[in-house]
Amino acid sequence: MLSAVPESEMSISGKTVLITGATSGLGLATAMLLAERGAEVVMVGRDRTRANFMRTEVAKCAAGNAPILFLADLSSQAEIHRLAERLHGCFSRIDILINNAAAVFAEREVTPDGLEKTFAVNHLAPFALTHLLLDLLRAAPAGRILTASSEFHSGELDFSNLQGERQYNWWGAYKRSKLCNILFTCELSRRLAGSTITANCFSPGPTLTRLGDNMWGPPAAVPWLLKRIPTLLAFPEGAARTPVYVASSPDLDGVTGRFFMRRREARTKQITYDNSVAARLWNMSQTLYESRASAGSRTE
Ligand SMILES: NC(=O)c1ccc[n+]([C@@H]2O[C@H](COP(=O)([O-])OP(=O)(O)OC[C@H]3O[C@@H](n4cnc5c(N)ncnc54)[C@H](OP(=O)(O)O)[C@@H]3O)[C@@H](O)[C@H]2O)c1
Repeated sequence: MLSAVPESEMSISGKTVLITGATSGLGLATAMLLAERGAEVVMVGRDRTRANFMRTEVAKCAAGNAPILFLADLSSQAEIHRLAERLHGCFSRIDILINNAAAVFAEREVTPDGLEKTFAVNHLAPFALTHLLLDLLRAAPAGRILTASSEFHSGELDFSNLQGERQYNWWGAYKRSKLCNILFTCELSRRLAGSTITANCFSPGPTLTRLGDNMWGPPAAVPWLLKRIPTLLAFPEGAARTPVYVASSPDLDGVTGRFFMRRREARTKQITYDNSVAARLWNMSQTLYESRASAGSRTE
């Protein structure tokens, strides 16, 4: 699908847009572009100092309300629940949710919830946050849910190795999580059919960000090298035009369950069109989400 509407005419002014991972790379650039166009930007960060600094940077661009900042470590299901509670205390509706935060890990790490960290941050966090904010999105006239995925998503899904239990490497775990983002979006859009909310995913395309800067040892060499090849990676300001398009273009009113790259709809790997795979992942994610939620409520 081609964008017929010039970016300058995309209407986002006055809408409340929540962006996770809004303190770096693509999320930060998206926050700045949307703030420039008059959106009320709600930034989710995890490091207080970094997040406060970035909020000031976004505020400098804001044409409308000043950006609002919330802190949460999205690898923790309890923190996601606390974040959602605080958001409910502050907002009566959210127009657009952008599940953008993600990370890669050189070695298999497990969160205090007992989840592999790539799976927890990149897939189960958007799954949980979306569930917890659905009522606020329903309160908007036409809520939009965007989830950042990648063209480098996996073409297969081994349910017995969903969290790298049997075999782990950082690239495999990342590609799997980006496949989960697409499958989640497809199943979510089916479950929201008939509602006012749409759900789409996107890739910014290869972009020069901090993704992978936390890695060490041999895996760190890959992002280090890629980031030093001029012309291979776009700058976040350019790459963010895709999520801004998916968030705000009137061309996409009512459009749901699609994947976008370079502001056009794009095809994804064959497995993403298998509804039974998406439904199975949804059910497994739901079980994990509910078991962590009930464990959290027992300890509070
Ligand atoms: N860069 C690319 O080439 C590329 C290509 C395709 C898709 N993508 C996707 O684009 C999205 C944005 O990535 P990026 O490239 O902009 O990477 P980035 O610069 O590393 O930004 C990632 C963001 O996620 C946040 N984050 C990571 N772990 C978190 C946690 N546990 N709790 C809360 N926040 C957390 C980071 O917070 P801090 O600021 O505190 O570190 C940061 O703001 C990701 O979904 C990625 O998969 C990127």
